[in-house]
Amino acid sequence: MAEGIHFTVLTLFKDMIGSCMSTSIMGRAVENGLISCDVVDIRDFAEDKHNRVDDYPYGGGAGMVMEPGPVYRACEYAKGLHPDKRSRIIYLSPIGRTFTQDVAKELAGEESLIFLCGHYEGIDERVLEMEVDDYISLGDFVLTGGELPALAVMDAVSRLVPGVLNNDESAGDESFEGNTLEYPQYTRPEVFLGKRVPDVLLSGHHANIARFRREKSLIRTMERRPDLFEKVELDKKDRKFLKEYEESKHRIFVKEMIPGVYLLDEAHAATGYLVVGENRACVIDTMMAAADLGETVRKLTDKPVFVINTHGHPDHIYGNVFFDEAYINPADIPMAEEFFNDPRFVEGCEKAGATVPPFKTVKGGDVFDLGGKTLEIFDFPGHSPGGILILLKEDRILFTGDSINHHLWMQFDDCPSMSEFVRRLDGIMFLEEKADKILHGHAQDFDDISLIRCVRQGAAEIAEGKTENDPPYRYFEGVVKQHPFDLEPGKAYSQIESVICYKN
Ligand SMILES: C[S@@+](CC[C@H](N)C(=O)[O-])C[C@H]1O[C@@H](n2cnc3c(N)ncnc32)[C@H](O)[C@@H]1O
Repeated sequence: MAEGIHFTVLTLFKDMIGSCMSTSIMGRAVENGLISCDVVDIRDFAEDKHNRVDDYPYGGGAGMVMEPGPVYRACEYAKGLHPDKRSRIIYLSPIGRTFTQDVAKELAGEESLIFLCGHYEGIDERVLEMEVDDYISLGDFVLTGGELPALAVMDAVSRLVPGVLNNDESAGDESFEGNTLEYPQYTRPEVFLGKRVPDVLLSGHHANIARFRREKSLIRTMERRPDLFEKVELDKKDRKFLKEYEESKHRIFVKEMIPGVYLLDEAHAATGYLVVGENRACVIDTMMAAADLGETVRKLTDKPVFVINTHGHPDHIYGNVFFDEAYINPADIPMAEEFFNDPRFVEGCEKAGATVPPFKTVKGGDVFDLGGKTLEIFDFPGHSPGGILILLKEDRILFTGDSINHHLWMQFDDCPSMSEFVRRLDGIMFLEEKADKILHGHAQDFDDISLIRCVRQGAAEIAEGKTENDPPYRYFEGVVKQHPFDLEPGKAYSQIESVICYKN
């Protein structure tokens, strides 16, 4: 790699280059003599008395083309600036090879790089043939000029020149090293707007940290850049990890919470439950159908099984395909049917030869006797118009779907106002007398029943406008707000951080 490198930029817009080359790390590198940069105005080489450097294209067509004469003279001048150095003239252009970290490494081995920046429709082909050694594109898009690509290339090349980055900035396991994208980075504070830094990074256990980073980096590369991932060299540990990761996406983790009540966790994305009575069994919410829920349930019980959906969102109903009988509140049927008509879901069903059973309806006051286990339904519209709560009477467990949880989504258009929601929460508060614990639709464990009261407190604060410090919350439909709410001390919850998301 070169000890220092000289850049020359041939441009019609000198100011664009000057300011970047005198700022931040590049500016410091220039000051320290590690890189140097001349900026040459192509217009200075015009022979036309109006300093004109462009003309209409032969053969017609839109736009203007930069004339060969001024570009030729500018290139020759640039080569003469450092006759002692080997230099390469690079034309920045969408027709060039795509710029990558490997190309940056290659260029960092040169002594002098001359960047030719086009404008308008480009540059007369003849002078390109005569002068240009290399064509580089920043990517498959068209910019108005070559200055930004030239700066991007100079920046990426400069940071590879020894001494340009100091220790704090130094390029360690950066993206593209070993064809992987970089792992996620975190700095203080430990908790930001309710999001914690992964525990392993605070552990001080270097081997575990290195493994965590490697695994994150592999997943990122695989999911975001499959083209790059094909080139990654995987060792035994990597392959084992990736195999398990892929399998976990299509696996349901089963946990027996109490005799006859199972938590069914589909890839940590959504949770359903199986309640097994003496005569029949009920699946409460069926998740995304990423894994065969029917098979999982059959391994746990041979009783006839039916489904109750707490609401009609896809991550609670798609697995209905594995069963013959499913109940839902009628107010959520239109939404659920819309999700069932999603082309990706339809295609998946067609491939698997699966069909969704027609909905039967359920409403507040309905009771399902499973034999020794009784499920009672309570209407609780809020998170969705047809949301229901299901009380397992004998075991005093309340299944709340997504209606009561630690990350309550109340930002949808069909959600009630916060004050109306508070009123509805008041209407179910009597359930504190009937249940001790909650199992919600994304839980890994029990929550104390007081979670309802805590949600009510948070909702009331929003309704009263105590929201000055509420941070934004980004989800797949846009950005809304999130209001943190407190949990009660001394009670057991499945999670600590708790927010209600809402529209302003
Ligand atoms: C409007 S562009 C000309 C595009 C040209 N007519 C074409 O279709 O390929 C003007 C100048 O911007 C620069 N430029 C535009 N997109 C670029 C990219 N993706 N990579 C590198 N340079 C680019 C080139 O120097 C080019 O001459």
